[in-house]
Amino acid sequence: MKQREYDIAVIPGDGTGPEVIAEGRKVLEAVCGKYPLKLIFRQFSLGAEHYKKTGEILPESVLESIKKCDAIYLGAIGDPDVPPGKLEKGVLLKLRFQLDQYINLRPIKLYPGVESPLKHKGPDEIDFVVVRENTEGLYAGAGGILRHGTPHEVAIQESISTRRGVERCIRYAFEYCRCRNRAKKLTLCGKTNVLTYTFDLWERTFKEVAQAYPDIETDYAHIDALCMWMIKNPERFDVIVTENMFGDIITDLGAMLQGGIGMAAGANISPEGISMFEPIGGSAPKYTGQNIVNPIGAILAARLMLETLGESQAAQLIEKGVMKVLRDDLKSTEAGKMGYSTSEVGDLIVEFIQGYRE
Ligand code: IPM
Ligand code: MN
Repeated sequence: MKQREYDIAVIPGDGTGPEVIAEGRKVLEAVCGKYPLKLIFRQFSLGAEHYKKTGEILPESVLESIKKCDAIYLGAIGDPDVPPGKLEKGVLLKLRFQLDQYINLRPIKLYPGVESPLKHKGPDEIDFVVVRENTEGLYAGAGGILRHGTPHEVAIQESISTRRGVERCIRYAFEYCRCRNRAKKLTLCGKTNVLTYTFDLWERTFKEVAQAYPDIETDYAHIDALCMWMIKNPERFDVIVTENMFGDIITDLGAMLQGGIGMAAGANISPEGISMFEPIGGSAPKYTGQNIVNPIGAILAARLMLETLGESQAAQLIEKGVMKVLRDDLKSTEAGKMGYSTSEVGDLIVEFIQGYRE
């Protein structure tokens, strides 16, 4: 059988990013041993340390090299010593925008064995996916400050939504919902009662695109009410589609439903180009170097990467490993309380994968 090869750009990044990415790589290498699959990892040092040393954020030449890879595996970007926004905008958002990764796909799934933060709601009730628009909205960076530092200072930050940007995101969400084949229900999350321009465009586009998907039930919720439903009745959701900022906020809330920020993974998808996979937990500077954070978000990001590359079998094996360890081994999913170190959690999953027989 012919071996399938992929070049993976690895950006371990800041804080605990390198620690969790190391575990993800171990797990990826283990699944490669099981299938005719080869991953060639190309490491790029971007983030706070590199910036402090060289003043470089994301040089053009590095971007060009990354563009030659098949996917990007990213740890975390952000450091308390660097002014907020500098690296986030300069690395993470620049990659999302330059590579036109217009979908941010974030599964919210409570696995068996993980303590539910919600009374009476377990793995059957907490299993949905957020499709977050990833290149527009408030993140477009439109606006500015006038009369900076004076009593008459004015700050303007505008939200941009384009018909093309909204439509391609909504279309992706319908397709995804169809393939996921669960409740076949797509919820649009907006704020049509106040943000009457932005969500008028979203709602009209949603209704138009829906015509082509008679098999998908459609639903709508305002962002504030949706936060309430996520806690009260999370089983209401199958796939949620929303704009960038709302998607950012509800996926942190969603991470809590999964057992904590260390459990959550996201895929920045460019359906026609190069996609980027990351744990959504951030760089967690206070835990850096202690080998205590939960690497499962990073490992599930590796799963999303294989899935998106079309390697579903290998992706499923990673998920099986994660499920086994959550069910049988981990005492908690919280940093420092797992009963195992970061690297031991990776080892347990690797062990399961190596011993796995179809
Ligand atoms: C995320 C993060 C980023 C975002 C930050 C770090 C720029 O919070 O991926 O959710 O806001 O998109
Ligand atoms: Mn976020």
